[in-house]
Amino acid sequence: MRPVFSAENISAGYGDVAIVRGVSVKVAESEIVAIVGPNGSGKSTLLKSFLGLVRLFQGSVFYQDEDISKITPDRAVSLGVGYVPQVNNVFPNLNISENLDMGAYHRKGKTSIKAGMAEIYEMFPELEARKSALAGNLSGGERQMLAIGRAMMAEPKVLLLDEPLASLSPKPASVIMSKLELIRKNRVAIMIVEQNVKKVLSISSRGYVLVNGACVMEGDADTLFAEESSQQRFLGLETKSIDS
Ligand SMILES: Nc1ncnc2c1ncn2[C@@H]1O[C@H](COP(=O)(O)OP(=O)(O)OP(=O)(O)O)[C@@H](O)[C@H]1O
Ligand SMILES: [Mg+2]
Repeated sequence: MRPVFSAENISAGYGDVAIVRGVSVKVAESEIVAIVGPNGSGKSTLLKSFLGLVRLFQGSVFYQDEDISKITPDRAVSLGVGYVPQVNNVFPNLNISENLDMGAYHRKGKTSIKAGMAEIYEMFPELEARKSALAGNLSGGERQMLAIGRAMMAEPKVLLLDEPLASLSPKPASVIMSKLELIRKNRVAIMIVEQNVKKVLSISSRGYVLVNGACVMEGDADTLFAEESSQQRFLGLETKSIDS
């Protein structure tokens, strides 16, 4: 398996403090990979370190065969690394189509932007139906679709998602999961950070468990889910994440 995206031996954090220590992850084309772990275990910090949004103390990040460890977030996006942050992932005072436009800044020419938007609306007819609505007035599920759609406007080859299911009730969470399946089938590699272990593993082929900034377990999704011992390690998560 040749990864589209990989990170090796990552240590990253803030100021002088390393939050994430010695973590390696990878994802291949058309693969969904999960990174799970309790609150504060360093999941968001890990994702941010891939894009140069937090300090990388040690380790290397690769996009295809290129070392992008010293990349700026802008350059990462234009190369093909899509990122959907955990918070503030849409512009609340802009409407849906304006938000999508913001994701297309690397595209050249109106025709290309228009074509990109048509593709996003095809994937998310829910967004097209409300394209003049302000992002701040959308439901949680719609907002998450918009955040994903905005990232897709940059035509990524790998999509990094930070808790796309957080605070969504079961129905919108299922809709988001089916959209991610569609994106995967379109040959995009997907790496998802999630606390909803059961849901995210159900659409993932593999997973990593992050506790206190270190990877304590990795394996295929079925094994991770089935192993009693891994369940124990997930107990730092909310119980509903395991049972719902
Ligand atoms: N900007 C920051 N400056 C200093 N420390 C930070 C900063 N952001 C996060 N931290 C610390 O880093 C640790 C890991 O935080 P992080 O947000 O990466 O965890 P997480 O696994 O994403 O948690 P959650 O599931 O709640 O989103 C926490 O102890 C947090 O307090
Ligand atoms: Mg987080």
